[in-house]
Amino acid sequence: MKRFLFITMLIIPLAVSTAALAHGEEHSHFDFSRLIIPAGITTFIFMFLTLTLGLLIKKNRKIFFPWHRRLAFLTIAMAVIHVSLILLLH
Ligand code: HEM
Repeated sequence: MKRFLFITMLIIPLAVSTAALAHGEEHSHFDFSRLIIPAGITTFIFMFLTLTLGLLIKKNRKIFFPWHRRLAFLTIAMAVIHVSLILLLH
């Protein structure tokens, strides 16, 4: 269940920003370079959430520390995807 939540958190912002960028475009083959900006936006959002949860650790360590760690790993994973797409496709 936790893993499901974790993966959903990764996919939703990516899907929403890709859909927003693709809006109005005709359907052709999928171009992965279109994921660069959504991946960057997602990285930024995750970084902001990681910072916020890091600051909240002193309020309630039991709840916020595990989430700070999870979000930190997601942030790093998204940053790696974002940078890899740029280096490979741009
Ligand atoms: C305002 C920014 C941040 C604050 C105030 C903050 C605060 C903290 C605190 C209080 C801990 C717990 C340390 C402990 O008692 O063991 C922690 C752990 C951690 N932070 Fe942050 N953090 C911030 C940003 C980040 C960022 C940007 C990342 C990475 C993307 C990150 C990754 C981690 C990780 C992986 C741990 C766990 C280390 C372990 O397993 O012991 N933090 N942070």
